[in-house]
Amino acid sequence: MSPLGRASIMCGIVGYIGKNNNPQLGLSALRRLEYRGYDSAGIAVFNPEKQEILCLKAKGKIDELEKKFSEARFSGSPFILHTRWATHGEPSEANAHPHCDCQKNIYLVHNGIIENYKELKEALITEGHKFASETDTEVLAHLIEKYSNPGQPLEDAVRHALKEVKGAYALAIISRNDPQKIVAAKLGSPLILGINQDEFLVASDPAAIVSHTRQVITLDDNEIAVLSPDNFFILKEKPIEKIEWEVEDAQKQGFSHFMLKEIFEEPEAIKKSIVGRMILEQGLAKLGGLEQVSEQLKKIEKVVIVACGTASYAGKVGEYMFEEYAKISTKLEIGSEFRYKNAILDDKTAVLAVSQSGETADTLEAIKEAKRKGCLCLGLVNTVGSSITRETDAGVYCRIGPEIAVASSKAFVSQLCILALITVFLGRQREMSLVTGKRILEELEKLPNLAKKILAQSDYIKDLAKKYSEYRNFYFLGRKYNFPIALEGALKLKEIAWKIHAEATPAGEMKHGQIALIDENFPVVCICPYDSIYDKMKNAMEEVKARKGKILAITTEGNEEIKSLADDVIYIPKTLEMLTPILSVLPLHLFAAYLGLELGLDIDKPRNLAKSVTVE
Ligand code: G6P
Repeated sequence: MSPLGRASIMCGIVGYIGKNNNPQLGLSALRRLEYRGYDSAGIAVFNPEKQEILCLKAKGKIDELEKKFSEARFSGSPFILHTRWATHGEPSEANAHPHCDCQKNIYLVHNGIIENYKELKEALITEGHKFASETDTEVLAHLIEKYSNPGQPLEDAVRHALKEVKGAYALAIISRNDPQKIVAAKLGSPLILGINQDEFLVASDPAAIVSHTRQVITLDDNEIAVLSPDNFFILKEKPIEKIEWEVEDAQKQGFSHFMLKEIFEEPEAIKKSIVGRMILEQGLAKLGGLEQVSEQLKKIEKVVIVACGTASYAGKVGEYMFEEYAKISTKLEIGSEFRYKNAILDDKTAVLAVSQSGETADTLEAIKEAKRKGCLCLGLVNTVGSSITRETDAGVYCRIGPEIAVASSKAFVSQLCILALITVFLGRQREMSLVTGKRILEELEKLPNLAKKILAQSDYIKDLAKKYSEYRNFYFLGRKYNFPIALEGALKLKEIAWKIHAEATPAGEMKHGQIALIDENFPVVCICPYDSIYDKMKNAMEEVKARKGKILAITTEGNEEIKSLADDVIYIPKTLEMLTPILSVLPLHLFAAYLGLELGLDIDKPRNLAKSVTVE
């Protein structure tokens, strides 16, 4: 995979055709995809009066494109838009989409990678085509130009061109010579169609179009759709699905940032994840998605959890839960590592992908690899109809509505709750007693209210963030169930308050290295609820204290003795040890968000990151 080719493989696309001639609509839709990348953006509109396609591009966030658009103010339909995220190569106006052919007849937006673009480009240049960008995408416009014949529909040229292409794409294409249509095509990258009265949309994700229509069709690989103002067709018949969440779910609702809104939604996310999924009196988890593979699950001897980023920390907690309570050997594997390590798997192994978006390339590829090796493949995913849900045999949805902020928060607590439910599901198939099953479920049921009690301390946590904002390095410590929470606390802090460096280890590992860093300028966040390893955590804190390290402790309500060790304390309510991560992470999410704001940063869109990492 070449560096330039990789430059355009994240990204979000939108297309519209219909009665509305104001492309502002497309810009609003594109904003909902900004989480997919925000280093440049562009729009192309067919203007019926001029009978030509007008194109605008801008480096930077969508705001920059919007500024240009409000000066130019052109109108028309269809229009296509794009927001880009570069992994390699300078983001620039020339590299921004839409890209066009030599004659400026054909314009297209692309999410994906054209792996053989170099060979194609060389051949096209030899044939006389002139290129204006360094992207892989531009070859598509020239290839379609090559196969276009007067009087022939655009989709014919697209079909021909795509036969030569290797790689992944979600495409929206318009042409001056066949202006009453958008041609959309998909292979590997996500693409949905939005169906409405006299208007049709195409987008990378339902969030972009839900304010317009809730009727969507998810395109499958190798499908080409043709949208016209009053009709659409796909190469084969597809069912129309219904989006279950509300438009408001994708808006800030009075919060200054999605990140804050989503953290404040954590109690609700816990509730939505567990409601209707517990039979308390029988100590059973009712997970419809797993029922169909229930018999296979009984025979499973090993579970491998695959995930990336924050989801991998949820997976790590899951590993501890499954081993302790379901008594199944379990291992968390990072998606990008799992693919290449030739893991030993068989038909007695279940591989569980944990992913908010369901699109993370490394997690998706890990699942494909597990499938090849004959494993039962399961998904724990938030986004309905996403690629991972289509690759897995069965699974459980988070059901928490869209998560917009780039850094995952409410999805994390939801994943933890569902992992606890899966623990009960698997455990009760094995040795777990009715009493233990009931106990876990009863404690889970209490969590939404307990989480609200933590949110009630948000002003105090905001003050702490202000107090600690003068430090540039942090170290997070936890053990057992709260070791992954230390990792999550450090990741969130360095992601969204990126002027700060943070790291985390299991508390027992500190003495093997990180202890050398500790002095009065290196605050240590210790996650130490009253649990089976509380005394061990206390030892680590003593060691920090002895080196004059500042301690911010997260511990259980009623723990007074901690005040002699810690400089500051955040209290969380008491719950079952395996469920403490669901509560202890909440103050850490708030702490990172408030610290980011204190440093004047855009906590919804941290620099260099993107929400859906569809690149390997
Ligand atoms: C990106 C996001 C993270 C997220 C990770 C995995 O890096 O910024 O917040 O945890 O992807 O995403 P997934 O959609 O698979 O959970």
